[in-house]
Amino acid sequence: MRVLLPLLLLVICSSWLLPQSAGANRTLQAEAGAVRRPRVRADGTQLQFKSVAWNRYLAAEKGGGAPIVADREKPSGWETFKLWRINETTFNFRVFGNQFSRRDGHHAGGPSETFQLVRRDGDKNRVRIRAPNGLFLQAKTMKSVTADHSEDTNWGDDDPSVFVTNRVAHLRGEYQLCNGYGIRKARQVLRNHWRTFITESDFSFIASSGLNAVRIPVGWWIASYPHPPRPFVGGSLQTLDNAFTWAERYNLGVIVDLHAAPGAQNPYEHSATRDGSQEWGTTDENIAQTVQVIDFLASRYARSPSLLAVSLLNSPLPPRATPPSLTRGGSADATELLEFAGRFSRAVLDVHYYNLFTSRFAHLTADENIDFARKNRSSELAAVTRRNGRPLTFVGEWVAEWNVRGASKRDYQRFAQVQQEVYGRATFGWAYWMLKNVNHHWSMQWMIQNGYITLDSSRSRAIVSPLDNGEQMDSAGRPMLQDAVQVIQVS
Ligand SMILES: *[C@@H]1O[C@H](CO)[C@@H](O)[C@H](O)[C@H]1NC(C)=O
Ligand SMILES: *[C@@H]1O[C@H](CO)[C@@H](O)[C@H](O)[C@H]1NC(C)=O
Ligand SMILES: *[C@@H]1O[C@H](CO)[C@@H](O)[C@H](O)[C@H]1NC(C)=O
Repeated sequence: MRVLLPLLLLVICSSWLLPQSAGANRTLQAEAGAVRRPRVRADGTQLQFKSVAWNRYLAAEKGGGAPIVADREKPSGWETFKLWRINETTFNFRVFGNQFSRRDGHHAGGPSETFQLVRRDGDKNRVRIRAPNGLFLQAKTMKSVTADHSEDTNWGDDDPSVFVTNRVAHLRGEYQLCNGYGIRKARQVLRNHWRTFITESDFSFIASSGLNAVRIPVGWWIASYPHPPRPFVGGSLQTLDNAFTWAERYNLGVIVDLHAAPGAQNPYEHSATRDGSQEWGTTDENIAQTVQVIDFLASRYARSPSLLAVSLLNSPLPPRATPPSLTRGGSADATELLEFAGRFSRAVLDVHYYNLFTSRFAHLTADENIDFARKNRSSELAAVTRRNGRPLTFVGEWVAEWNVRGASKRDYQRFAQVQQEVYGRATFGWAYWMLKNVNHHWSMQWMIQNGYITLDSSRSRAIVSPLDNGEQMDSAGRPMLQDAVQVIQVS
């Protein structure tokens, strides 16, 4: 039988691998215990530059395509530059409209020029920007930024080549990890991670807990072994092979989840975006490449009795990443895919339910959160769950974490319990995000071992686990043996 599909994979990876110091600044550490390397800026870091001479921010006028000026009192999108890391000190700057800065102060979509950020010793936020001609950018006037200042500086407030930086965002995904460490070190770090983070004993734990499946996120480059494109490193494929071996040994199902698609289907680090831009689906080529990855995964594991599904695409963000019929703006609504998904047998609609991330949940009490899961989520799930199983439904991610401060253990228990009850009605099961995490409530293993989650023995589903890239996995529900099932993920 032809295996049809799948999508999702996981990649998230690795945010826990990049040690962060104190929230604000991020450091890639050489190795645990080793001396810290100089601070480096990773791909996708967003910087704003304030000229100390003018007390104004640099702006790429019109978001790119016009000269850089230094006349903005308040920084926003056009005043924000995204770094593409070449090495520790050298970067391309990408502006709002996704063009690259050039030394003449203009921007172009084509090959970019590199700039060196030269920091003042002892004042990490004060920088100068060396252009490719070896000279420094300076704001001679508020309207004229040119690359013609010499090396000399006293770093004073009157120097038009001195800027104070604000870091407004940064990313910590597998792209950043790999490009930040460089191929040799990244290979070492990731291989160590793959070897130690999730092991056979975790599969044993999953099975003995009464869970019956794992959801494993992967990145698209898993299909390019042994030569993944830069900056990614190979090895996740062997890790996924191991997961199948263990899953078969412990009689667990596996949902392989394409978590990062070529071009990035959402702006978050777990899509392996380089700088927060989302370019999946904008070309036929990256769609075709995505289908190849899915075919690769489906055919590699089709004969495994553990393969439950290949999830086609994790969290595509509309309006840019949607099926052609859904090009309108706004957030995804799972019901929109019902009819389409219902045309296939054994297709699964994957929804993710978090009482987090939007203002709607910002101020709810524990009871209100629990009530929301019991009532509102029940209706949402019911709206996409059909008795005939066309499509099946899967709550592919949920977690017993919320914005409530000072909640008691009992509160968490109730919250986990009600979600299990409600999501247990999904016809393909559910998966917890994730199996292990340094933040305890996000770690299903910790939650189980510490009595916060008691699995409902009647119909437990899956869980999560990680494998690839630091992400974790979760799992899924029962059934559907043998061939792959399509999973269409929404939200
Ligand atoms: C991070 O930034 C804070 C505040 O700017 C500073 O006090 C701290 O030393 C920095 N940490 C590192 C590791 O650079
Ligand atoms: C970083 O890259 C630039 C441009 O290729 C090069 O001139 C510079 O020597 C490199 N610096 C380091 C520390 O490798
Ligand atoms: C839950 O649903 C009820 C009834 O439809 C609605 O009034 C309420 O606002 C919803 N709760 C949240 C937090 O959106």
